[in-house]
Amino acid sequence: MKIAVIGAGYVGLVTGACFADFGHEVRCIDTDPRKIESLRNGGVPIYEPGLAELIASNVAADRLKFDMDLGWGVRDADAVFIAVGTPSRRGDGHADLSYVYQVAKDIAAELQGYTVVVTKSTVPVGTGDEVERLIRETRPDADFTVASNPEFLREGAAIGDFKRPDRIVIGTTDPRAREVMSEVYRPLFLNQAPILFTDRRTSELTKYAANAFLATKITFINEIADLCEEAGANVQDVARGMGLDNRIGSKFLHAGPGFGGSCFPKDVSALIKTGQDYGAPGRIIEAVANVNDQRKRAMGRKIIQAAGGDIRGKTVALLGLTFKPNTDDMRDAPSIAITRALKDAGANIRAFDPVGMEQARKVIDEGVVFCKDPYETVAGADVVTVVTEWDVFRALDLTRVRGLMKSAILVDLRNVYNPTDVIKAGFTYTGVGRGQVKTSAA
Ligand SMILES: NC(=O)c1ccc[n+]([C@@H]2O[C@H](COP(=O)([O-])OP(=O)(O)OC[C@H]3O[C@@H](n4cnc5c(N)ncnc54)[C@H](O)[C@@H]3O)[C@@H](O)[C@H]2O)c1
Repeated sequence: MKIAVIGAGYVGLVTGACFADFGHEVRCIDTDPRKIESLRNGGVPIYEPGLAELIASNVAADRLKFDMDLGWGVRDADAVFIAVGTPSRRGDGHADLSYVYQVAKDIAAELQGYTVVVTKSTVPVGTGDEVERLIRETRPDADFTVASNPEFLREGAAIGDFKRPDRIVIGTTDPRAREVMSEVYRPLFLNQAPILFTDRRTSELTKYAANAFLATKITFINEIADLCEEAGANVQDVARGMGLDNRIGSKFLHAGPGFGGSCFPKDVSALIKTGQDYGAPGRIIEAVANVNDQRKRAMGRKIIQAAGGDIRGKTVALLGLTFKPNTDDMRDAPSIAITRALKDAGANIRAFDPVGMEQARKVIDEGVVFCKDPYETVAGADVVTVVTEWDVFRALDLTRVRGLMKSAILVDLRNVYNPTDVIKAGFTYTGVGRGQVKTSAA
């Protein structure tokens, strides 16, 4: 199959590289000249484990190409995947569909022969109808179908998720489009990946419902963690006790500083707006959004409290900045709100992230000292805080960390450490929802 992927970001690049690896001929298009230049020179503009190797091998096999010329990608294609961003619209929280609609118009001008235009971007219910209308308006003669195929991959595990998905959702009722999409995903059918064919609107809504549900699960356990702290219970055991129930499942029950990232915050916000527009408000997800927003800054207060209530002039070492490990993505990362809260309270901040430093500098640069490794970060600090659970932090020599610091306060916002080890190394310990844990040796 000949496939064009429009948008070479996290989703577009993984999609393009994986489709090429299935044996398809893939052309990835992006409007960002630096991205295309870098990809053509063998670079990869984002950090995603295994992606560089997958791109290199498929470029070498002549199955994967990059360009800025949309027409070059679209004209011969059997399927064109739209994978551009759908960020929150400034001011009202609706999904900003301007990139998707621009691509729809650009594609329309170039269509030749029957083509399936697939929205892989996360788009509100009904967007496919508008994409179809825009293409039809520009090119009344074009032979095409607009299908929905939302992407469920997780950054940091994107290639595995794409190649071994829990399910593939395809929204089209057109038999011709169904045939093309079946061919595109044939290697995964052979692996017996569950595939759900449904109508376009249902497919679009499925993606938002899934993300909003996961965001709700995280927010639920975070509130239970707060209660554990007050009531003297341990949220990790509560989560385990809940998660062993097959009806609940253990995933997304890790208490922490609140969800962030490129998807959950904006998708929850967009679903709230959609619900309001349709007169079917989602009161549960409205609460989820509010609770989560407040939580991120509350984590700043938690650190201040751990430092004795006054952080002015004290130094906080932040370990991890990205919204989760194994990505360089800083979009809506809790570290942003935490840094802001600490700065507002007069703290000095030192920070380190294994791969997110370049992205972090763009959003939290002012007044933050970026360090080259965890040990340099904690040097002279009063408080050390784990913000993102990168593996490298799990293996830190806590006694060495303690020796480098001015005061011995450790705040573990991801519950990565065994509190006993932390206390044994001489720290005062604060975790999340570990109400029964002794916090210091004294
Ligand atoms: N990142 C994730 O983990 C993830 C997971 C599932 C779904 N999604 C969804 O996938 C979509 C893309 O997300 P992302 O994280 O890959 O975004 P991204 O910002 O990393 O990438 C989007 C790319 O599109 C390019 N672009 C914008 N306008 C263009 C145009 N007119 N023509 C060609 N290229 C254009 C941008 O330059 C950018 O490289 C979003 O709707 C997102 O919600 C993301």
